[in-house]
Amino acid sequence: MVKLNVVNASNTALVQRQPLVAVFFGGTSGIGHYTLRALAAAEANGGRGFRAYIVGRKAKAAEDIISECRAICPQGQFKFIKADDLSLIRDVDRVCADIVQLEGNESHNPRIDYLMLSQGSVIFLPRKDTKEGIDVTMSLMYYSRMRMIVKLLPLLLRSTLPARVVSVYAAGTEAQLFPEDLSLRNPRHYSYLQARSHMVYMHTLFMEVLAEQHAGKLSLIHIFPGLVLGPGFQNPELPTWVRILIGWVVIPVFGRLITLSSNECGDRMLSLASPRYPPRPIDKTKSQEGVAIGTDGEPGSGVYSLHWDGENNLKAKAYEKMNKGEMKKQVWDHTMKAFEVIEAGKVFDE
Ligand SMILES: NC(=O)c1ccc[n+]([C@@H]2O[C@H](COP(=O)([O-])OP(=O)(O)OC[C@H]3O[C@@H](n4cnc5c(N)ncnc54)[C@H](OP(=O)(O)O)[C@@H]3O)[C@@H](O)[C@H]2O)c1
Repeated sequence: MVKLNVVNASNTALVQRQPLVAVFFGGTSGIGHYTLRALAAAEANGGRGFRAYIVGRKAKAAEDIISECRAICPQGQFKFIKADDLSLIRDVDRVCADIVQLEGNESHNPRIDYLMLSQGSVIFLPRKDTKEGIDVTMSLMYYSRMRMIVKLLPLLLRSTLPARVVSVYAAGTEAQLFPEDLSLRNPRHYSYLQARSHMVYMHTLFMEVLAEQHAGKLSLIHIFPGLVLGPGFQNPELPTWVRILIGWVVIPVFGRLITLSSNECGDRMLSLASPRYPPRPIDKTKSQEGVAIGTDGEPGSGVYSLHWDGENNLKAKAYEKMNKGEMKKQVWDHTMKAFEVIEAGKVFDE
């Protein structure tokens, strides 16, 4: 486990190093909110200033969060960008274009240093396709997130941090994979847990291609955040059994033993911008102490699958069964094809 004093020290070092530009998709609630608040708190103690773009649907929630963070750190700059529905790739494109434009107006050195992707879907729902042809859950947790990275790449590549992408979901839960049915069209293949497994494999494989294409420039992380009780658990759309399990069993019986506080969660998420998670390749002539193990099993390989405590949680065995090079290409081609088809105004059906 990365100890909390190490987390806090690295956050202090981060904000003292340079002014930061951060984008929070899903910043209007839960983990996005907590991470933005952690950034404001770190910056308030001697940071060099920051600009934060907060993306979500609820303007009132954004307003409240911005007031809270401004009270913590009055010198921070905050901008809310209203999304309509980020399960739609075309809405993702519009929001990303807004960010590119705003950041270009804001600075002669436009960039993104830290990109958090934590927009969430209600879990354990049956498959439901968007009008663009992707399952809503899979779009919110995978396709839309990869589209955000692709669309914001020009800004990410300008970061001198270098840029950090943090996707918050369910890293480490790889199970069965249907290589010929990546988007799980076959009704016999689809269940929430199966979709989760695919989304996690696809995160690792798509991110590895990006890390190879942009060596030295981009570090990509996907993380299981632990159990962090936030507004998402009060969503009335959650299946009743999930709400009963959380509200009547998990919280009353296990309480704090298995949950992570919002402050600790935010601090830990921010600390993923530390040099512990560098882009590939690292300088092998230098000590690798304190450098995290990446998804290829080597320290510092540029893509990281992490447990809530900042340690590697990749299910390495799951990848041993496949030809990883081929599978990476397949996932990349599939995902880029989805984007191309939707961008052309058609419905993706592969
Ligand atoms: N919290 C946990 O214990 C936990 C555990 C494991 C994994 N995770 C995963 O971590 C991620 C973040 O969790 P969280 O607890 O922070 O979730 P949350 O509090 O429910 O926040 C979800 C965010 O996603 C946005 N969002 C949802 N649907 C959207 C849509 N269609 N279009 C645009 N924005 C949308 C919401 O925006 P608005 O509110 O403005 O609509 C909100 O900002 C999720 O993927 C979740 O599955 C969480």
